[in-house]
Amino acid sequence: APSDPGLVERARAAKARLGEKVFILGHHYQRDEVIEFADVTGDSFKLARDAAARPEAEYIVFCGVHFMAESADILTSERQQVILPDLAAGCSMADMATAEQVAECWDVLTDAGVAGTTVPVSYMNSSADIKAFTGRHGGTICTSSNARRALEWAFAQGEKVLFLPDQHLGRNTAVLEMGLSLEDCVVYNPHKPGGGLTPEQLRAAKMILWRGHCSVHGRFTLDSVNEVRERVPGVNVLVHPECRHEVVEAADFVGSTEHIIKRLAEAPAGSKWAVGTELNLVRRLAKAHPDKEIVFLDRTVCFCSTMNRIDLPHLVWALESLADGKPVNRIQVDAETEHYAKLALEQMLALP
Ligand code: 13P
Ligand code: SF4
Repeated sequence: APSDPGLVERARAAKARLGEKVFILGHHYQRDEVIEFADVTGDSFKLARDAAARPEAEYIVFCGVHFMAESADILTSERQQVILPDLAAGCSMADMATAEQVAECWDVLTDAGVAGTTVPVSYMNSSADIKAFTGRHGGTICTSSNARRALEWAFAQGEKVLFLPDQHLGRNTAVLEMGLSLEDCVVYNPHKPGGGLTPEQLRAAKMILWRGHCSVHGRFTLDSVNEVRERVPGVNVLVHPECRHEVVEAADFVGSTEHIIKRLAEAPAGSKWAVGTELNLVRRLAKAHPDKEIVFLDRTVCFCSTMNRIDLPHLVWALESLADGKPVNRIQVDAETEHYAKLALEQMLALP
């Protein structure tokens, strides 16, 4: 539906009142009505770097989800305030690994005698606490666009990797891009004693995958791929690496959101694409490339509900609060967590 013209006007006015003081970041999965006001758009890796590169902005308004705003707070200066327009914009995947569960897992690895040779690699989609755990244990953060480089780095530091919290990104990268076998991977289930694994299994594994997944990408199935191939003959299937292993294996191409955007921009006119990632992005890409046929991989999968929490009314409310000098919804990571989380984030930014 078209945006309320009154709200569009208020967003414009508040942004104009703030001028250089505010910088608005928009993740690719955000609604069109929000993306319209973003100074930059990007995937989580690009936005983390963009936030760090804006020291003159007093306010960073992060249109994305909570873990992204936390990362922006960690990477920006003390003076800058990071604002999340709706505090309910969390991420179900990030919530699947809590600090207590991960500490318990590390105890399990210690008891099995493998903690000393294990390097934690945590996906950007995790809380600041998990990033701090990663930094404390000499690990790195990764995103979907640098997961392979992060894993290569980690395997040069130790024998094993504990990959948090997205089992699919970890497995897809290790097996499909780095030549590890499925048998090299085990899944640690935080809801079972000992993760549901024996010490022997932990000792034999190269990749210890946390049992987490994305509630949007995890819904694409092998049937989604088979059905779209029938429905759209000659279609190229392009999916995000947060999809299940069998989906990525059956697809023609896999890549992060930035990769998906680039591939579709470069695709020849008349080519056909079924895209398995968040619906706001797929719709926007279909609109941007009317010369190509771009469809959503599975019509029964819907938007990321937490990404969609950020809407124009929330953005207007946040911008007006800043323009009035009464900021709402500041995301602030405590100093100790920030210190260790920053080590892991900086390690990611330093990856070759
Ligand atoms: P990227 O932006 O890194 O591709 O991650 C996808 C995602 O699920 C963000 O929540
Ligand atoms: Fe989290 Fe998935 Fe939504 Fe991204 S798309 S914010 S990983 S639930």
